[in-house]
Amino acid sequence: MANRVNNNGVIRFSNNLRSPQTIMTKPTTQLDAAHFDSKARQWDDNPVFRERGLKIAQAIRQAVPLHREMSALDYGCGTGLLSFPLKDEVGAILLADSSGGMLEVVNEKIASQDVANMTTLQLDLLSDPTPTRTFDLIVTSMTLHHVPDTDHILRVFHDLLNPGGYLCIADLDQEDGSFHGIEVDVHHGFDRDELGRRTADAGFSDPSFQTVFSIAKQFENGTRDYPVFLMNARRAAA
Ligand SMILES: C[S@@+](CC[C@H](N)C(=O)[O-])C[C@H]1O[C@@H](n2cnc3c(N)ncnc32)[C@H](O)[C@@H]1O
Repeated sequence: MANRVNNNGVIRFSNNLRSPQTIMTKPTTQLDAAHFDSKARQWDDNPVFRERGLKIAQAIRQAVPLHREMSALDYGCGTGLLSFPLKDEVGAILLADSSGGMLEVVNEKIASQDVANMTTLQLDLLSDPTPTRTFDLIVTSMTLHHVPDTDHILRVFHDLLNPGGYLCIADLDQEDGSFHGIEVDVHHGFDRDELGRRTADAGFSDPSFQTVFSIAKQFENGTRDYPVFLMNARRAAA
């Protein structure tokens, strides 16, 4: 079978390689707030997304001593699939996302389940002013790879945490770009050692990693698994 060139200049070899091989890569597709707005209504229909949220929540439970006085931020919350499972184990939770469509769904879930400790905020920490309130816990699931400036967001997370506060980041391990497609302008997961170093450079102590989930994707040549890590780190106590 002949190789195919698409109009992004990406060549996909039709041999038995398990992932696309790229000769010229220039990411051209942005997954912006409008993209996530368009996905919001169907988000919770995906059993993989629901299971991923439950598995990450379970790992956070085991890594962090949660309690009802703990204030939390779920950054890039989507429809809240990570923080809804934790809502009875922490105090006030702010669910923040740059997608108004995602937040509409969250607000409907808060209202229909009569949840008293969750509020929402449309927020992009790369362009909006940093909120003045601070938190004991920040959780974020599958969002870091959408944020271009990792070092900046880590520093902002540090500023948003109270002394002794916990940061829990769940995201993809480093991959070759095939998770989203090589034309999509996102980080291709993260190398754990490098992200740990960057997290320490942002002022956190003891970043530690565990594998919490694996996402299986099907390609022409078979199925491929993308592991998801949870990194747990702490802002130094005062
Ligand atoms: C892959 S989804 C994950 C949603 C949810 N955390 C989950 O695990 O189901 C990424 C989410 O991050 C949000 N997002 C992307 N870039 C963002 C940014 N710069 N600031 C805030 N949210 C962002 C998107 O709108 C989307 O809801």
